[in-house]
Amino acid sequence: MSKAVILGGTGVIGQAAARRLLAAGWQVDVCSRNPGRMPADLEAKGARHQILDRMDASSLRSALNDGADLLVDCLAFTAADARLVIPFLGSIGSTVMISSKAVYIDNDGRHVNSEVRPQFHGPISETNPTIPPGSGDYRTAEGYGPNKVAAEQAFLDSGNPVTVIRASKVHGQGAAPAREWFFVKRILDRRSAIFLRNGGKSIDHTSAAVNVAALIETVAGLPGARVLNGADPDAPTVLEIARAAARHFRYSWREVLLEEDPTSDVGRTPWDSASPMVLDMSAASELGYVPVGTYAQTAAETLDWLAGTFQRDGAGAQNLPFFEGRFDYAAEDEHLKVLTH
Ligand SMILES: NC(=O)c1ccc[n+]([C@@H]2O[C@H](COP(=O)([O-])OP(=O)(O)OC[C@H]3O[C@@H](n4cnc5c(N)ncnc54)[C@H](OP(=O)(O)O)[C@@H]3O)[C@@H](O)[C@H]2O)c1
Repeated sequence: MSKAVILGGTGVIGQAAARRLLAAGWQVDVCSRNPGRMPADLEAKGARHQILDRMDASSLRSALNDGADLLVDCLAFTAADARLVIPFLGSIGSTVMISSKAVYIDNDGRHVNSEVRPQFHGPISETNPTIPPGSGDYRTAEGYGPNKVAAEQAFLDSGNPVTVIRASKVHGQGAAPAREWFFVKRILDRRSAIFLRNGGKSIDHTSAAVNVAALIETVAGLPGARVLNGADPDAPTVLEIARAAARHFRYSWREVLLEEDPTSDVGRTPWDSASPMVLDMSAASELGYVPVGTYAQTAAETLDWLAGTFQRDGAGAQNLPFFEGRFDYAAEDEHLKVLTH
Protein backbone atom coordinates (compact mmCIF):
# COMPACT_ATOMS: atom_id res chain seq x y z
CA MET A 1 0.00 0.00 0.00
CA SER A 2 1.41 3.45 -0.92
CA LYS A 3 1.91 5.82 1.99
CA ALA A 4 1.35 9.59 2.06
CA VAL A 5 2.22 12.08 4.79
CA ILE A 6 0.37 15.42 4.74
CA LEU A 7 1.78 18.33 6.77
CA GLY A 8 -1.13 20.62 7.64
CA GLY A 9 -3.46 17.74 6.75
CA THR A 10 -6.54 19.03 8.58
CA GLY A 11 -6.61 22.26 6.50
CA VAL A 12 -8.67 22.78 3.35
CA ILE A 13 -6.09 21.42 0.88
CA GLY A 14 -4.81 18.71 3.25
CA GLN A 15 -8.29 17.30 3.89
CA ALA A 16 -9.11 17.15 0.20
CA ALA A 17 -5.79 15.48 -0.59
CA ALA A 18 -6.35 12.94 2.20
CA ARG A 19 -9.87 12.10 0.92
CA ARG A 20 -8.62 11.68 -2.64
CA LEU A 21 -5.67 9.46 -1.68
CA LEU A 22 -7.73 7.32 0.74
CA ALA A 23 -10.25 6.71 -2.04
CA ALA A 24 -7.39 5.55 -4.26
CA GLY A 25 -6.24 3.05 -1.61
CA TRP A 26 -3.39 4.99 0.00
CA GLN A 27 -2.38 4.85 3.63
CA VAL A 28 -2.52 8.49 4.81
CA ASP A 29 -0.90 10.20 7.79
CA VAL A 30 -2.60 13.52 8.52
CA CYS A 31 -0.28 15.77 10.55
CA SER A 32 -1.23 18.92 12.45
CA ARG A 33 -1.05 20.37 15.95
CA ASN A 34 -4.64 19.89 17.04
CA PRO A 35 -6.13 16.37 16.72
CA GLY A 36 -9.54 17.86 17.59
CA ARG A 37 -9.68 19.28 14.04
CA MET A 38 -9.30 15.85 12.42
CA PRO A 39 -12.39 15.36 10.20
CA ALA A 40 -14.38 12.34 11.36
CA ASP A 41 -14.79 10.99 7.83
CA LEU A 42 -11.02 10.80 7.32
CA GLU A 43 -10.60 8.84 10.53
CA ALA A 44 -13.46 6.54 9.53
CA LYS A 45 -11.75 5.85 6.21
CA GLY A 46 -8.57 4.81 7.99
CA ALA A 47 -6.42 7.97 7.96
CA ARG A 48 -4.11 8.29 10.96
CA HIS A 49 -3.71 11.61 12.75
CA GLN A 50 -0.24 12.50 14.00
CA ILE A 51 0.35 15.45 16.28
CA LEU A 52 3.12 17.50 14.69
CA ASP A 53 4.57 20.97 14.87
CA ARG A 54 5.77 21.65 11.31
CA MET A 55 8.31 24.18 12.56
CA ASP A 56 9.98 21.73 14.95
CA ALA A 57 12.73 19.42 13.61
CA SER A 58 12.24 16.60 16.12
CA SER A 59 8.50 16.59 15.45
CA LEU A 60 9.21 16.33 11.71
CA ARG A 61 11.62 13.46 12.35
CA SER A 62 8.93 11.37 14.02
CA ALA A 63 6.57 11.94 11.08
CA LEU A 64 9.10 11.49 8.25
CA ASN A 65 11.87 9.22 9.45
CA ASP A 66 10.21 6.05 8.08
CA GLY A 67 9.93 7.61 4.60
CA ALA A 68 6.84 7.76 2.39
CA ASP A 69 5.82 7.52 -1.26
CA LEU A 70 4.33 11.00 -1.13
CA LEU A 71 4.83 14.03 1.10
CA VAL A 72 2.41 16.95 0.80
CA ASP A 73 3.70 20.05 2.56
CA CYS A 74 0.94 22.61 3.02
CA LEU A 75 3.04 24.57 5.52
CA ALA A 76 6.22 25.79 3.79
CA PHE A 77 6.16 29.57 3.95
CA THR A 78 9.89 30.40 4.11
CA ALA A 79 13.26 29.05 2.96
CA ALA A 80 13.94 28.05 6.58
CA ASP A 81 10.71 25.98 6.57
CA ALA A 82 11.86 24.22 3.40
CA ARG A 83 15.32 23.55 4.86
CA LEU A 84 13.75 21.81 7.86
CA VAL A 85 12.07 19.24 5.58
CA ILE A 86 14.71 18.81 2.84
CA PRO A 87 16.97 16.45 4.90
CA PHE A 88 14.13 13.87 4.92
CA LEU A 89 13.41 13.93 1.19
CA GLY A 90 15.91 11.16 0.35
CA SER A 91 13.36 8.62 1.57
CA ILE A 92 10.30 10.28 0.00
CA GLY A 93 9.17 9.17 -3.48
CA SER A 94 7.50 12.42 -4.55
CA THR A 95 7.05 15.69 -2.66
CA VAL A 96 4.48 18.43 -3.22
CA MET A 97 4.99 21.92 -1.84
CA ILE A 98 1.84 24.05 -1.83
CA SER A 99 2.69 27.55 -3.01
CA SER A 100 0.64 30.45 -4.25
CA LYS A 101 -0.11 32.58 -7.30
CA ALA A 102 0.94 35.49 -5.04
CA VAL A 103 4.49 34.91 -6.33
CA TYR A 104 3.69 36.20 -9.85
CA ILE A 105 4.52 39.77 -10.93
CA ASP A 106 3.25 41.77 -13.88
CA ASN A 107 5.38 43.88 -16.28
CA ASP A 108 5.62 46.62 -13.63
CA GLY A 109 6.68 44.26 -10.83
CA ARG A 110 3.26 44.35 -9.13
CA HIS A 111 1.77 41.28 -7.43
CA VAL A 112 -1.55 40.45 -5.75
CA ASN A 113 -0.41 41.89 -2.42
CA SER A 114 0.89 45.16 -3.94
CA GLU A 115 -0.93 48.36 -3.06
CA VAL A 116 -1.89 48.72 -6.72
CA ARG A 117 -3.25 45.47 -8.18
CA PRO A 118 -1.24 43.85 -10.99
CA GLN A 119 -2.39 43.84 -14.62
CA PHE A 120 -1.80 40.56 -16.40
CA HIS A 121 -2.53 40.28 -20.09
CA GLY A 122 -3.95 36.77 -20.43
CA PRO A 123 -3.54 33.53 -18.50
CA ILE A 124 -0.37 33.36 -16.37
CA SER A 125 1.89 30.40 -17.07
CA GLU A 126 4.48 28.96 -14.69
CA THR A 127 7.29 30.71 -16.62
CA ASN A 128 5.88 34.15 -15.79
CA PRO A 129 8.41 36.16 -13.72
CA THR A 130 8.06 36.02 -9.94
CA ILE A 131 8.95 38.32 -7.08
CA PRO A 132 12.66 37.91 -6.14
CA PRO A 133 13.16 35.56 -3.17
CA GLY A 134 13.31 37.25 0.19
CA SER A 135 12.98 36.86 3.92
CA GLY A 136 11.37 38.92 6.69
CA ASP A 137 7.91 38.30 8.11
CA TYR A 138 5.93 36.05 5.74
CA ARG A 139 2.69 37.02 7.52
CA THR A 140 2.73 40.49 5.96
CA ALA A 141 1.56 41.60 2.51
CA GLU A 142 5.15 42.51 1.49
CA GLY A 143 6.69 39.39 3.07
CA TYR A 144 4.36 36.61 1.90
CA GLY A 145 5.40 36.41 -1.78
CA PRO A 146 9.20 36.80 -1.42
CA ASN A 147 9.26 34.15 1.32
CA LYS A 148 7.14 31.75 -0.76
CA VAL A 149 9.53 32.16 -3.70
CA ALA A 150 12.50 31.49 -1.38
CA ALA A 151 10.78 28.33 -0.08
CA GLU A 152 10.04 27.17 -3.65
CA GLN A 153 13.66 27.73 -4.69
CA ALA A 154 15.06 25.90 -1.67
CA PHE A 155 12.92 22.85 -2.53
CA LEU A 156 13.61 22.97 -6.27
CA ASP A 157 17.37 23.44 -5.78
CA SER A 158 17.55 20.51 -3.33
CA GLY A 159 17.92 17.95 -6.11
CA ASN A 160 14.81 16.05 -4.95
CA PRO A 161 11.63 15.39 -6.94
CA VAL A 162 9.54 18.26 -5.61
CA THR A 163 6.47 19.57 -7.41
CA VAL A 164 5.56 23.13 -6.45
CA ILE A 165 1.82 23.74 -6.89
CA ARG A 166 0.81 27.40 -7.09
CA ALA A 167 -2.78 27.63 -5.90
CA SER A 168 -5.10 30.60 -6.29
CA LYS A 169 -8.21 31.32 -4.17
CA VAL A 170 -8.82 27.93 -2.55
CA HIS A 171 -12.34 26.70 -1.80
CA GLY A 172 -13.42 23.50 -0.13
CA GLN A 173 -14.55 21.86 3.09
CA GLY A 174 -12.63 23.05 6.13
CA ALA A 175 -11.58 26.38 4.62
CA ALA A 176 -11.01 29.16 7.15
CA PRO A 177 -11.83 31.60 5.79
CA ALA A 178 -14.25 30.05 3.33
CA ARG A 179 -14.77 33.00 0.97
CA GLU A 180 -18.13 31.58 -0.17
CA TRP A 181 -19.45 32.51 3.29
CA PHE A 182 -19.78 36.02 1.84
CA PHE A 183 -22.73 34.74 -0.25
CA VAL A 184 -23.94 31.83 1.90
CA LYS A 185 -24.48 34.04 4.96
CA ARG A 186 -26.47 36.51 2.86
CA ILE A 187 -28.64 33.68 1.55
CA LEU A 188 -29.18 32.27 5.06
CA ASP A 189 -30.04 35.81 6.24
CA ARG A 190 -32.53 36.03 3.33
CA ARG A 191 -31.07 39.22 1.91
CA SER A 192 -33.17 40.56 -0.94
CA ALA A 193 -30.26 41.97 -2.98
CA ILE A 194 -26.66 41.18 -3.72
CA PHE A 195 -24.27 44.05 -4.49
CA LEU A 196 -21.21 43.54 -6.66
CA ARG A 197 -18.49 46.04 -7.59
CA ASN A 198 -16.90 46.40 -10.99
CA GLY A 199 -20.18 45.35 -12.60
CA GLY A 200 -19.65 41.84 -11.17
CA LYS A 201 -16.90 41.32 -13.77
CA SER A 202 -13.95 40.77 -11.39
CA ILE A 203 -12.05 37.53 -11.94
CA ASP A 204 -9.58 36.16 -9.39
CA HIS A 205 -9.08 32.52 -10.32
CA THR A 206 -10.59 29.95 -7.96
CA SER A 207 -8.87 26.70 -6.91
CA ALA A 208 -11.08 23.87 -5.67
CA ALA A 209 -9.22 21.91 -3.02
CA VAL A 210 -10.54 18.75 -4.71
CA ASN A 211 -8.95 19.86 -8.01
CA VAL A 212 -5.64 20.57 -6.25
CA ALA A 213 -5.98 17.09 -4.69
CA ALA A 214 -6.42 15.53 -8.16
CA LEU A 215 -3.25 17.31 -9.28
CA ILE A 216 -1.42 16.03 -6.18
CA GLU A 217 -2.44 12.46 -7.02
CA THR A 218 -1.25 12.95 -10.61
CA VAL A 219 2.23 14.13 -9.59
CA ALA A 220 2.47 11.47 -6.86
CA GLY A 221 2.84 8.98 -9.70
CA LEU A 222 5.21 11.19 -11.70
CA PRO A 223 7.99 12.31 -9.36
CA GLY A 224 9.92 15.28 -10.73
CA ALA A 225 11.18 18.77 -9.93
CA ARG A 226 8.73 21.23 -11.46
CA VAL A 227 6.30 24.11 -10.90
CA LEU A 228 2.60 23.77 -11.77
CA ASN A 229 -0.34 26.10 -11.46
CA GLY A 230 -3.24 24.68 -9.46
CA ALA A 231 -6.56 26.33 -10.30
CA ASP A 232 -10.03 25.39 -11.56
CA PRO A 233 -10.61 24.54 -15.24
CA ASP A 234 -12.78 27.66 -15.53
CA ALA A 235 -12.21 31.13 -14.05
CA PRO A 236 -15.63 32.47 -13.00
CA THR A 237 -16.46 36.13 -12.62
CA VAL A 238 -17.67 37.20 -9.19
CA LEU A 239 -21.17 37.46 -10.67
CA GLU A 240 -20.92 33.80 -11.76
CA ILE A 241 -19.71 32.85 -8.27
CA ALA A 242 -22.69 34.66 -6.71
CA ARG A 243 -25.05 32.97 -9.17
CA ALA A 244 -23.56 29.53 -8.43
CA ALA A 245 -24.35 30.04 -4.73
CA ALA A 246 -27.89 31.34 -5.39
CA ARG A 247 -28.63 28.53 -7.86
CA HIS A 248 -27.31 25.91 -5.45
CA PHE A 249 -29.72 27.03 -2.71
CA ARG A 250 -32.52 27.84 -5.22
CA TYR A 251 -32.42 31.38 -3.91
CA SER A 252 -33.35 34.45 -5.81
CA TRP A 253 -32.11 37.96 -5.13
CA ARG A 254 -31.81 41.20 -7.00
CA GLU A 255 -28.36 41.60 -8.51
CA VAL A 256 -27.13 45.17 -8.11
CA LEU A 257 -24.04 45.74 -10.23
CA LEU A 258 -22.08 48.80 -9.10
CA GLU A 259 -19.19 50.74 -10.54
CA GLU A 260 -16.06 51.44 -8.47
CA ASP A 261 -16.57 53.87 -5.59
CA PRO A 262 -13.57 54.29 -3.27
CA THR A 263 -15.78 55.96 -0.65
CA SER A 264 -17.98 52.90 -0.05
CA ASP A 265 -17.47 49.23 0.83
CA VAL A 266 -20.87 48.15 -0.46
CA GLY A 267 -20.39 45.40 -3.02
CA ARG A 268 -16.77 44.60 -2.16
CA THR A 269 -16.21 40.83 -2.25
CA PRO A 270 -13.27 38.53 -1.52
CA TRP A 271 -12.77 38.00 -5.29
CA ASP A 272 -12.52 41.65 -6.36
CA SER A 273 -9.83 42.26 -8.92
CA ALA A 274 -9.21 45.35 -11.02
CA SER A 275 -7.99 43.17 -13.88
CA PRO A 276 -8.50 39.43 -14.38
CA MET A 277 -6.07 37.08 -12.67
CA VAL A 278 -6.23 33.70 -14.39
CA LEU A 279 -3.74 30.84 -14.13
CA ASP A 280 -2.84 28.84 -17.25
CA MET A 281 -3.54 25.17 -16.49
CA SER A 282 -2.05 23.66 -19.66
CA ALA A 283 1.17 22.35 -18.02
CA ALA A 284 -0.85 20.30 -15.52
CA SER A 285 -3.10 18.96 -18.32
CA GLU A 286 -0.05 17.90 -20.34
CA LEU A 287 1.03 15.76 -17.37
CA GLY A 288 -2.32 13.95 -17.48
CA TYR A 289 -4.13 15.86 -14.72
CA VAL A 290 -7.92 15.71 -15.02
CA PRO A 291 -9.84 18.17 -12.84
CA VAL A 292 -12.76 16.95 -10.76
CA GLY A 293 -15.00 19.73 -12.03
CA THR A 294 -15.64 23.37 -12.75
CA TYR A 295 -15.97 26.03 -10.05
CA ALA A 296 -19.75 25.58 -9.75
CA GLN A 297 -19.52 21.78 -9.69
CA THR A 298 -16.83 21.71 -7.02
CA ALA A 299 -18.13 24.63 -4.92
CA ALA A 300 -21.36 22.73 -4.15
CA GLU A 301 -19.48 20.77 -1.49
CA THR A 302 -18.27 23.98 0.20
CA LEU A 303 -21.72 25.56 0.05
CA ASP A 304 -23.37 22.52 1.69
CA TRP A 305 -20.61 22.29 4.28
CA LEU A 306 -21.02 25.98 5.18
CA ALA A 307 -24.81 25.69 5.48
CA GLY A 308 -24.42 22.53 7.60
CA THR A 309 -21.85 24.04 9.96
CA PHE A 310 -24.03 27.16 10.29
CA GLN A 311 -26.99 25.01 11.40
CA ARG A 312 -24.75 23.30 13.93
CA ASP A 313 -22.78 26.19 15.43
CA GLY A 314 -23.74 29.46 13.77
CA ALA A 315 -20.95 31.42 12.10
CA GLY A 316 -18.51 29.22 14.11
CA ALA A 317 -15.30 28.72 12.15
CA GLN A 318 -16.13 31.68 9.87
CA ASN A 319 -16.25 34.12 12.79
CA LEU A 320 -12.91 35.50 11.61
CA PRO A 321 -11.27 38.95 11.27
CA PHE A 322 -11.29 38.27 7.50
CA PHE A 323 -15.07 38.84 7.46
CA GLU A 324 -15.11 41.96 9.64
CA GLY A 325 -17.04 44.73 7.88
CA ARG A 326 -18.14 42.42 5.04
CA PHE A 327 -21.74 42.11 6.25
CA ASP A 328 -22.73 45.77 6.61
CA TYR A 329 -26.43 45.21 5.86
CA ALA A 330 -27.38 48.72 7.06
CA ALA A 331 -25.19 50.28 4.35
CA GLU A 332 -26.67 47.91 1.75
CA ASP A 333 -30.23 48.78 2.84
CA GLU A 334 -29.40 52.49 2.50
CA HIS A 335 -28.05 51.87 -0.97
CA LEU A 336 -31.18 49.96 -1.94
CA LYS A 337 -33.39 52.78 -0.66
CA VAL A 338 -31.56 55.26 -2.91
CA LEU A 339 -31.96 52.93 -5.89
CA THR A 340 -35.67 52.43 -5.38
CA HIS A 341 -36.46 56.15 -5.07
N1 LIG B 1 -6.29 29.02 1.26
C1 LIG B 1 -5.97 29.72 0.16
O1 LIG B 1 -6.80 30.44 -0.43
C2 LIG B 1 -4.57 29.58 -0.40
C3 LIG B 1 -4.28 30.21 -1.62
C4 LIG B 1 -3.00 30.04 -2.17
C5 LIG B 1 -2.05 29.29 -1.51
N2 LIG B 1 -2.36 28.73 -0.31
C6 LIG B 1 -1.31 27.96 0.37
O2 LIG B 1 -1.87 26.75 0.85
C7 LIG B 1 -1.17 26.34 2.03
C8 LIG B 1 -2.10 26.07 3.21
O3 LIG B 1 -3.18 25.59 2.78
P1 LIG B 1 -4.58 25.58 3.43
O4 LIG B 1 -5.32 26.76 2.93
O5 LIG B 1 -5.05 24.19 3.20
O6 LIG B 1 -4.33 25.79 5.02
P2 LIG B 1 -5.37 25.90 6.16
O7 LIG B 1 -6.73 25.53 5.71
O8 LIG B 1 -5.14 27.23 6.78
O9 LIG B 1 -4.87 24.77 7.15
C9 LIG B 1 -3.62 24.78 7.74
C10 LIG B 1 -3.45 23.47 8.48
O10 LIG B 1 -2.16 23.38 9.03
C11 LIG B 1 -2.22 23.13 10.44
N3 LIG B 1 -1.09 23.84 11.01
C12 LIG B 1 -0.91 25.19 11.07
N4 LIG B 1 0.29 25.46 11.62
C13 LIG B 1 0.87 24.27 11.90
C14 LIG B 1 2.11 23.89 12.47
N5 LIG B 1 3.01 24.78 12.88
N6 LIG B 1 2.38 22.57 12.58
C15 LIG B 1 1.49 21.64 12.18
N7 LIG B 1 0.30 21.93 11.65
C16 LIG B 1 -0.01 23.24 11.51
C17 LIG B 1 -3.59 23.61 10.87
O11 LIG B 1 -4.11 22.87 11.96
P3 LIG B 1 -3.68 23.19 13.48
O12 LIG B 1 -3.82 24.68 13.64
O13 LIG B 1 -4.62 22.38 14.30
O14 LIG B 1 -2.27 22.73 13.60
C18 LIG B 1 -4.40 23.28 9.63
O15 LIG B 1 -4.74 21.93 9.60
C19 LIG B 1 -0.26 27.45 2.42
O16 LIG B 1 1.03 27.08 2.05
C20 LIG B 1 -0.75 28.64 1.62
O17 LIG B 1 0.30 29.48 1.31
C21 LIG B 1 -3.59 28.83 0.25
